[in-house]
Amino acid sequence: MLIEKTDILAWLAQCAATYAEQMDFLTELDRDIGDADHGLNMNRGFKHVAELLPGIERHDIGTIFKNTGMTLLSSVGGASGPLYGTFFIRAAAAVGSRTALNLKDLLDAMSVGVEGVVVRGKANLGDKTMCDVWIPVLEKAKQALANGMEPEQVLALISTTADECVVSTIMMQAKKGRASYLGERSIGHQDPGATSTMLMLKALEQAIKRK
Ligand SMILES: Nc1ncnc2c1ncn2[C@@H]1O[C@H](COP(=O)(O)OP(=O)(O)OP(=O)(O)O)[C@@H](O)[C@H]1O
Ligand SMILES: [Mg+2]
Repeated sequence: MLIEKTDILAWLAQCAATYAEQMDFLTELDRDIGDADHGLNMNRGFKHVAELLPGIERHDIGTIFKNTGMTLLSSVGGASGPLYGTFFIRAAAAVGSRTALNLKDLLDAMSVGVEGVVVRGKANLGDKTMCDVWIPVLEKAKQALANGMEPEQVLALISTTADECVVSTIMMQAKKGRASYLGERSIGHQDPGATSTMLMLKALEQAIKRK
């Protein structure tokens, strides 16, 4: 499976559509354990990314990711803007000037992006953040690919694993961000950032499957 630049552009456009659709849901999750802005943040950020896409579509994947990251960084406040911004900027450096990637290259670049998120946000596994989706999903997907699973099946595995990871955040106690101020009262609620990461991963499968 070759993931072309048009697939990457379709992924980012799908993210914008998904966050517009799920804005209220994400905001409600953030109302329970945060400040009720996560859906607004993600929708605003990816709306700006979608507006940017026509102007950068002739560039390589690294440039597209870099512009996406810079846009998220500059248009989304709070914790999630800088974290998702860092994700795309770091991933951009990993893919460089390529205009097509195989799934392994893309997953490796996404792992580099997540390393940047961890350096910036200092979250450990189990802290009830987006990292509780990013890290296990990418590890499982890369392992499956290394074991010979077909890329189409790996994309489906990413989607189901992301769902499971989101559910696993419900019983975690938040150790990072505003939700951590609630202490034990953060237990029993699904993490908004973990949910937006799951949606971003599902958007990738949808974008690649569209062909
Ligand atoms: N240090 C961190 N590392 C990784 N993810 C984090 C961190 N802090 C917060 N998050 C993620 O960001 C989400 C909240 O994003 P939001 O857009 O609501 O920004 P925010 O209101 O500034 O966040 P917060 O109140 O958590 O600081 C959380 O649900 C969590 O998944
Ligand atoms: Mg918030």
